[in-house]
Amino acid sequence: MPGLATDVIWRSRLKRIESQVEDIRLPPADHGVDQDQEWCDVILGQEQRRVRFHDYASVFRIPGLYEKLFYDNLECCSPSYISNLLDDVVREYGDNPEEFRVLDVGAGNGMMGDELQALGIESIVGIDIIPEAKAATDRDRPNVYDDYRVTDLTDLPETEEERLRRADANCLTTVAALGFGDIPPLAFAKALDLIATPGWLAFNLKEDFIREQDTSGFSRLIRRLNRDGYIQTLCYRRYQHRLSVASKPLHYVAVVARKLIDLGHELMEDLEAEAMAHQAGNAGAPSYTS
Ligand SMILES: C[S@@+](CC[C@H](N)C(=O)[O-])C[C@H]1O[C@@H](n2cnc3c(N)ncnc32)[C@H](O)[C@@H]1O
Repeated sequence: MPGLATDVIWRSRLKRIESQVEDIRLPPADHGVDQDQEWCDVILGQEQRRVRFHDYASVFRIPGLYEKLFYDNLECCSPSYISNLLDDVVREYGDNPEEFRVLDVGAGNGMMGDELQALGIESIVGIDIIPEAKAATDRDRPNVYDDYRVTDLTDLPETEEERLRRADANCLTTVAALGFGDIPPLAFAKALDLIATPGWLAFNLKEDFIREQDTSGFSRLIRRLNRDGYIQTLCYRRYQHRLSVASKPLHYVAVVARKLIDLGHELMEDLEAEAMAHQAGNAGAPSYTS
């Protein structure tokens, strides 16, 4: 387990979850599945159910499956790694994480919220796009978030936006939720727009999505945010996020940064145009260059 990661919080939480999972059977190591297609067979009493890892609604419906599959079997460590890294960087900078009001985007069943709460964070608001994530949080981690919204940041209703702005967040976290058809660059930028300036952000991303050749739009967006002074990256660290079903390490990059200036219309409009081009199957034609 990498130095910054700990398994204390999720293990003690798992003990309190009434899990029906008796066994998890992974495909043979030579199966050759891509990360986005990984699956397992879950044994629940007499029933055996095949679940694709990225079908989060199905995963969250089964109490304890997310924790046992990703954390116990596949040694995922990202929520503790990123919250501890954030704590370290913020304290070294001279700020106090206990004064943070966090917006945790792609909150899932609340594992990042659990880690943040243990840091003594003042308040945490979760956002996810699927109701099953909120239902799992209410079921398994009912006292972690001050508010938890099921909403789409790429098409945020006005009332939701007002409510989220009232939370007055000064820190954005998003863990294991960017890329792979999950949170797109436009939604990430919208989340960044919702937090105060100056503010903090901490996120992780598969290392492929941060390379120059990346076509998801994240590497371009992050370069532009840094280059144009919207954010200042204070820490950029490669680490092992988890193992693949074939027991190969999956490396991600953890980023801790400060938000320095408001995002502004031009950037958001560029991202909206890029998202529309992407939807129209024209992802190769970004509306801005870097
Ligand atoms: C792998 S889970 C990560 C959950 C949690 N952050 C953690 O580290 O355990 C990814 C989460 O991102 C959510 N997600 C995917 N697309 C999203 C979007 N566009 N907006 C908000 N959440 C999204 C999924 O529903 C899922 O709950």
